[in-house]
Amino acid sequence: MDKKTIKDINVKAKKLIIRVDFNVPLDEQGHITDDRRITAALPTIQYALKEGAAKVILMSHLGRPKGTGFEAAFSLRPMALRLEQLLKERIAFLNDCIGPVVKEAVAQSKERLILLENLRFHKAEEKNDAAFAKELASLADIYVNDAFGTAHRAHASTVGITQYLPSVAGFLIEKELQYLGNAINNPKRPLVVILGGAKVSDKIELIKNLIPKANSIIIGGGMAYTFLKAQGIGVGDSKLEKDKMDMAKELMVQAKKAGVELALTKDFVITQSFESDNCKISDTIPDGWQSLDIGPKTREYYKRILSKARTVVWNGPLGVFEREAYMQGTKDIAEYLASLKDVTVVIGGGDSAAAVAKLGLEDKMTHISTGGGASLEFLEGKTLPGIAALNST
Ligand code: 3PG
Repeated sequence: MDKKTIKDINVKAKKLIIRVDFNVPLDEQGHITDDRRITAALPTIQYALKEGAAKVILMSHLGRPKGTGFEAAFSLRPMALRLEQLLKERIAFLNDCIGPVVKEAVAQSKERLILLENLRFHKAEEKNDAAFAKELASLADIYVNDAFGTAHRAHASTVGITQYLPSVAGFLIEKELQYLGNAINNPKRPLVVILGGAKVSDKIELIKNLIPKANSIIIGGGMAYTFLKAQGIGVGDSKLEKDKMDMAKELMVQAKKAGVELALTKDFVITQSFESDNCKISDTIPDGWQSLDIGPKTREYYKRILSKARTVVWNGPLGVFEREAYMQGTKDIAEYLASLKDVTVVIGGGDSAAAVAKLGLEDKMTHISTGGGASLEFLEGKTLPGIAALNST
């Protein structure tokens, strides 16, 4: 990586402000349902404490509050409690992230570890407002960005603040860039990419960027039907983006020219209504029916391709995996990936990470990204502003 990391600077007796991404899912009672983003931030926090930082001030957003002040549903207080449990260290939780009261509380805090309240309670955060960024910066001597999941956002806490402090990456950002970067730019070959999810429109840039890099691209999920229809195959009432059919054709031509195998669904799990779990396996999708998962022949076909892979990148589930009736395709492929030996398997964040977690296979994968939108943009070949803004080596 051409960016400085926390290891490149002396943190002893310094005040560090670390941008983390504690935007974790909560249930209706406000309990954390998946703390992976919190545990993923621990190595940087522990390192700063161990190396003798005077203060370690953590800041994050949670959800998308209105930006007009405190909203209980978006408070970061539950994250402070979870962090205390994980680190077995007391944390000072402050009710805001800027202002004289916060400054004074940071200065007086007996606790070395401090968590600020949700940055997005201030509109200025998402506007990348310079005065707000300067206020955040005024709390510390060094800025560390370890919020990979938010690195695609040019906000005050990810970009603006770098104008005012020496700015370095944390270990999570370093690890994400290493795994995601190597997987697509320097993979052990063959590289097989599995793409799923609902919409082709969300994945066009990704497919374009991956055609010159991958050996095979497997397409499943809702986006497959637009590709099938573009080949003249009937898809019944399945999800279809008519306005993207020409683009799908164009991508198939590009893949062919590049010698990249583009593997499409061969059989289906079909139903007469999206709401219904009443379904059957079929080689075709008749009118009045829609497909919500890949069928068993397709699963075997995909596994044959995957059996040759030495690197796999997976982004997007292959069916409506949230529902038992339509999760078999995603489950089968995830279990197959988990069984592979000496293959690097990198899971893009968001829904594919959620599917792997639901199946309890997280430990079996080489790397599961903590970024949803951020990992997608990285795999699309885009520059992530939160990373670009950090000091270079
Ligand atoms: C995410 O969950 O993708 C990140 O935390 C960014 O959140 P956002 O999409 O609300 O900016």
